[in-house]
Amino acid sequence: MLSKSAIIHYDVIDSTNLESKRLIDKKKIFSPTWIIANKQTAGRGRGNKKWVSQEGNLLASLVLPINFSLDRLPFLSCIVGLSLYQCISKVITDDKLLKIKWPNDILYDDAKLAGVLIENSLSQSKNFSIIGIGINVAHHPVIDGKKTICLNTIAQKSMKIMDLMKPLSIILSEYLEKLINKSEALLIDEYKSKCWNYNKTIKFMTSDKVLEGILIDISKDFEIIISANNKNIKLNAGELSFDY
Ligand code: BTN
Repeated sequence: MLSKSAIIHYDVIDSTNLESKRLIDKKKIFSPTWIIANKQTAGRGRGNKKWVSQEGNLLASLVLPINFSLDRLPFLSCIVGLSLYQCISKVITDDKLLKIKWPNDILYDDAKLAGVLIENSLSQSKNFSIIGIGINVAHHPVIDGKKTICLNTIAQKSMKIMDLMKPLSIILSEYLEKLINKSEALLIDEYKSKCWNYNKTIKFMTSDKVLEGILIDISKDFEIIISANNKNIKLNAGELSFDY
């Protein structure tokens, strides 16, 4: 699916997700295209956070024309998490400590290694998903109260961005085929086997409340299910935050 994807490479850009949106709006993109930058001046993370974007880290967005049913859209988040997991596990010697924190953060030994910001551009003429991926390769930001790590430290070698981009694109392409052809249940089972703190107690925040509960399941619509105060709470990615 991505075998013929184009690549647009910038040295410096504000954000590859923002640039993707501009190119879509100007009708300059019609087929899968990677927008890659060496540096971002206004890198964006989930929940309106900033994404520290130093040179040496992987900063890329895939502009994907949506050619599958929109009800499969929540699974895009699932397969992007699985693709990143598979791509990273190939370059480290031991993936026992590698986990996907719902919906699609990648953690190593509980420290953040990679993040994903998916933004959809839905219109009457054509629907696109912008899949923004940041991997801490050479650097990781120092953030108060948060553990972060970079790939070079884990792999104990210096990784080149384009050597990661190629397998990432291939693996993501394979998972996009699965998104269309494979049952949700199988994808969810694979996801659960790699999910951070599955069946364990987690702290989370909904609206303005910090709660504690057990992450007991991931639903067939890719919602997280947490058992808290004798109730099962089902939340989508917009409704829950682990950062409080
Ligand atoms: C997160 O974990 O908060 C998501 C981080 C996503 C960062 C990437 S870097 C490439 C793309 N461009 C952006 O501005 N953000 C995403």
